[in-house]
Amino acid sequence: MQLNDNKRISVGLVGLGRLGRQHAENLAFRIPHCTLTAVCSVKEEEVEAAKRDLGVPYGYTDYEEMLRNNELDAIFIASPSGFHCKQIEQALAAGFHVFSEKPLGLYIEEALRVQEAVIRHPNQVFMLGFMRRYDRSYAYAKQQIEAGAIGEPVLVRCYGLDPAQAMPSFLQFAKSNYSGGLFLDMAIHDLDLARWYLGAEAETVWAIGGSHRYPELEQLEDAETGAALVQFEGKKMGIFVASRNCAHGYHIETEIIGTHGSLRIGTIPEKNQVALMDDRGIVRECASGFLERFEQAYVDEVIEFIRCIREDRKPEVTVADGVQSTILGYACKQSFETGQLVAVHH
Ligand code: NAI
Repeated sequence: MQLNDNKRISVGLVGLGRLGRQHAENLAFRIPHCTLTAVCSVKEEEVEAAKRDLGVPYGYTDYEEMLRNNELDAIFIASPSGFHCKQIEQALAAGFHVFSEKPLGLYIEEALRVQEAVIRHPNQVFMLGFMRRYDRSYAYAKQQIEAGAIGEPVLVRCYGLDPAQAMPSFLQFAKSNYSGGLFLDMAIHDLDLARWYLGAEAETVWAIGGSHRYPELEQLEDAETGAALVQFEGKKMGIFVASRNCAHGYHIETEIIGTHGSLRIGTIPEKNQVALMDDRGIVRECASGFLERFEQAYVDEVIEFIRCIREDRKPEVTVADGVQSTILGYACKQSFETGQLVAVHH
């Protein structure tokens, strides 16, 4: 698709839930050269609210019907994870550029099928929502590594902890649609970051987990807290802790240890720069959740998607990143479920 300089990219969004509604507001108001032309959700009230609040002209409860709207240039997917692969393939086949939320897929076979579909449509932009790569701190750490600031990166340690306060909203999310479990749903961001920072793929995984405060998560065959130890190529290492039961808030922390130094991001996950001093002592509040902590990254990743379409180039996050992170996340899940050390096959 050849675009002139002033052309606005017309987007149709599917999924108007916890994250999709935020993406809708960003697409409608915060992304240059972009128009949110259509929204789709199985919940009609969400469609009506988006049309009314955001001034979106077209609303659908049927995804395939939205794909027949020939005013659209791109499809933005923020539906539950189990729908991503099919919806990506349908949108590519209909000729659209596609942005999909993570994870690419919940199963390796479907992720590989999407990869083939992306390869079959080389003139369409495909991007996956690994937004942390667009967070200013994470991007700065990557620049430091590339500039040699810590020598050769050899170990990545990640904490991905969701606030305990969000447990009711998580249970609603997980019970209405299968999320893939702790490793494919949550740790997937950290698995992608580790591959990105280490420049290496995983070889073996050992993962463990348990549900101590919310035993009902075991009925969903999931864990409330889990940990994975990953051996990467070249004797590089990854340590991943994921939890949905973080008492103090949303704690996303990453450390990259190199041969000549280390980098830490988000060690104290403060909400802002304010210290409240009172009879309890000194209180630094914690970020409350993903929408707050990664507000800027959710905007910047979409700015990049729209730029790629307008400038006829491809984003740095590729479908292969989606495939490799699903392969690794699935190996973590298998190890957690079987108690075995799992070899990662690429
Ligand atoms: P949610 O359950 O809150 O919302 C899902 C939305 O999709 C709802 O509007 C629902 O009505 C709609 N929907 C369900 N089935 C549909 C179908 N067949 N066709 C059209 N619409 C359908 O889920 P949430 O939390 O917004 O997550 C959506 C996706 O975003 C998930 O894949 C999740 O993994 C991802 N996500 C990514 C985050 C990130 O940090 N990048 C953070 C949170 C979620």
